[in-house]
Amino acid sequence: MSHLRSVVRGVGSYLPARILTNADLALMVDTSDEWIVQRTGIRARHIAAEGEVTSDLALSAARAALEDAGLEPADIDLIVLATSTPDNTFPATAVSVQSGLGITHGAAFDLQAVCSGFVFALATADNFLKSGSHKRALVIGAETFSRILDWSDRTTCVLFGDGAGALVLEAVPDEGKDDERGVLTTHLRSDGRYKTKLYVDGGVSSTRSVGYLRMEGREVFRHAVGMITDVIEDAFRATGIDAGTIDWFVPHQANRRIIDGSAHKLGIAPEKVVITVDQHGNTSAASIPLALASAHADGRIKQGDVVLLEAMGGGFTWGSALVRW
Ligand code: UT7
Repeated sequence: MSHLRSVVRGVGSYLPARILTNADLALMVDTSDEWIVQRTGIRARHIAAEGEVTSDLALSAARAALEDAGLEPADIDLIVLATSTPDNTFPATAVSVQSGLGITHGAAFDLQAVCSGFVFALATADNFLKSGSHKRALVIGAETFSRILDWSDRTTCVLFGDGAGALVLEAVPDEGKDDERGVLTTHLRSDGRYKTKLYVDGGVSSTRSVGYLRMEGREVFRHAVGMITDVIEDAFRATGIDAGTIDWFVPHQANRRIIDGSAHKLGIAPEKVVITVDQHGNTSAASIPLALASAHADGRIKQGDVVLLEAMGGGFTWGSALVRW
């Protein structure tokens, strides 16, 4: 039985300065603002500057999260960074963040579960903290998907953007009360039968190159709502919490239609749904912490609120988490 729980101490995010609008994209490929908005809900996305790498975005988000937590880098002894667009094949992008923060103790590593990366990283850090092996973790989702997009493929290049978000989690004694703060439950799934539905057509061991993102969008869409609602129902069953008692639904921001369809199927009221896909596009592992940071900064998510997280993406991988903020 666990005697520790992981509590959210702070949240932060970073978006590159450059904004690419749908109108800008319509000058690059055969698309339109109307098509993109109607099919995805996306209006704009941020794009990293030349030379600005994933660890730069992650470091800025981590610093913001530490400031929000009122903590110093030295207080952190674990960094779990979810990304599919690392600075280099190795070392892990997490160690660049660690060195940027001036931390020389503890452990830092990357985790790769594509768009589900942040939920997988949160579950991983939660288990480390609950085990007592580490005290305070930075859980980061950071991506520069602009670097793996085929900018001549209108079916994918209009969907994604760059950004980073971070949470500070702290291990605290579990007092066994019903309304205690912290990560309440996490549920992770994968099914490699679908690995070719959303993938990058290059890699170290296969082509010795980076490759481009390829997606059978309609196929991903077809599975998304069912997988998402299934794993959320697992989280509800594990906790006794339900659509009526959550305060906020912060889903992976891939497509407005998928988010609305999932919320509708689960009976989650539209006013509880946090949407950032309109301004950020799909930032893969960064999308949930970016949305959390945005809803925390504008005062929507408050201490004690029950927040439901969910993601689904390449692999396929999918997962859910319930957090009492
Ligand atoms: O984050 C990881 C998970 N990823 C996702 O969740 C993405 C899931 N998939 C989706 O979000 C949607 O499938 C898309 C947004 C990618 C596409 O929407 P859709 O409603 O499934 O469209 P479609 O792929 O069925 O394409 C409809 C039409 C096609 O033309 P035809 O064959 O009907 O003549 C496409 O060629 O739209 C065309 N099309 C475009 N038209 C204008 C595809 N991309 C574009 C575009 N602009 N950018």
